Amino acid sequence: ERERTFVMVKPDAFARGLAGEIISRFEERGLKLVGMKLEVLDREHAEEHYGEHEDKPFFDDLVDFITSGPVVPMVWEGEDATRQVRQMIGATDPAEAAPGTIRGDYALDLGRNVVHAADHEDEGANEREISLFFDDDELVEYDQHD
Ligand code: CMP
Repeated sequence: ERERTFVMVKPDAFARGLAGEIISRFEERGLKLVGMKLEVLDREHAEEHYGEHEDKPFFDDLVDFITSGPVVPMVWEGEDATRQVRQMIGATDPAEAAPGTIRGDYALDLGRNVVHAADHEDEGANEREISLFFDDDELVEYDQHD
């Protein structure tokens, strides 16, 4: 099924000059980019985005980190895009992430893991995360050439 999925390059990727490299992975895979912006999140926005982790011991560190520099929220479209992107990104823990995955190649630790993607096991995640970052008119329509 053709679908849209939410992905975000994190501040550590920016600090290390890896943002373009990470965005290229999805482009080269043939996914269609329909939304992208550059911003520094305020705490309120970050806390809402990571609301499901509110009770976790690492929540404050997570919010500190994700607001510490620029992020690139994106929406990528394609066949089975959510699962495809999760596979490309690899496991959350870099120690578990396979070489060849984005985290397997670049992530430093659990917090500084360079990229976020909506959870494919959480059915409402894409809709919720996309609408938290993008208005409908910020998602562009065009034909992707082969
Ligand atoms: P992400 O996919 O953005 O979703 C939640 C994030 O919480 C996750 O990536 C990790 O970066 C972060 N995270 C998970 N576990 C820990 C932890 N134990 N310590 C710090 N950050 C964590």
